[in-house]
Amino acid sequence: VTRFVYATASTLTGQLADEDHSLDWLFAVDQEGTEAGAAHERFMDDVGVIVEGSSTYEWVLRTEHLVEQPEKWTQYFGTRPTFVFTSRDLPVVPGADIRFVRGPVAEHLPAIRAAAGESGRGTVWLCGGGDLVGQFYDAGALDRIDVGIAPVTLPGGPPLLPRRIESSRLTLVSAEKKGQLITAVYEVRPAPSEVSDET
Ligand SMILES: NC(=O)c1ccc[n+]([C@@H]2O[C@H](COP(=O)([O-])OP(=O)(O)OC[C@H]3O[C@@H](n4cnc5c(N)ncnc54)[C@H](OP(=O)(O)O)[C@@H]3O)[C@@H](O)[C@H]2O)c1
Repeated sequence: VTRFVYATASTLTGQLADEDHSLDWLFAVDQEGTEAGAAHERFMDDVGVIVEGSSTYEWVLRTEHLVEQPEKWTQYFGTRPTFVFTSRDLPVVPGADIRFVRGPVAEHLPAIRAAAGESGRGTVWLCGGGDLVGQFYDAGALDRIDVGIAPVTLPGGPPLLPRRIESSRLTLVSAEKKGQLITAVYEVRPAPSEVSDET
């Protein structure tokens, strides 16, 4: 079974980045006691496929100089297929399994599920941004939200998840203090229509 998991970090005010697409506010948080590295490795053990929007992809390329140093891609993400949603022609990281797609999420779900199945790892990591994850939610493909909330407020920036999802659809599974972060995990319940479709 494929599980679609949105794992990300957010400000207290619900932004993924600042208005300049910078994450400096996140890297400035004292990492002591966050166990972020170990938790990320455990999470990645179950990840077969990565999905992201073009801003996120471009941010990673730019910040890590991945076009010039492509070997770093595999160090970070392994050989996992990465689906990048974009309507533009973007640079490719040599040697990485990057699949550019565009248009309705529902059209790409069979290929994403197939890639996860082939990998033998059931988790699809939805990296963001928030609207793309919202498109997965709209398509009935968002099972869990793992968010690390940083002690930072910002006046603006790309939102964590710009959809109206009320408490009837979200169950808090865990909430922990990790150093200066709160890590919260929510299960996303299927809409009543999705449940009756399956029965
Ligand atoms: N805090 C964190 O841990 C974290 C995690 C992830 C991302 N981030 C940051 O948060 C920011 C997110 O930026 P963002 O909100 O702009 O989101 P994004 O999802 O990374 O990029 C949005 C862009 O993706 C393309 N796109 C989205 N859906 C599409 C579709 N169905 N078909 C074709 N193209 C589609 C569009 O651009 P084009 O068509 O023009 O390409 C759209 O403008 C970035 O700065 C990123 O680095 C932070």
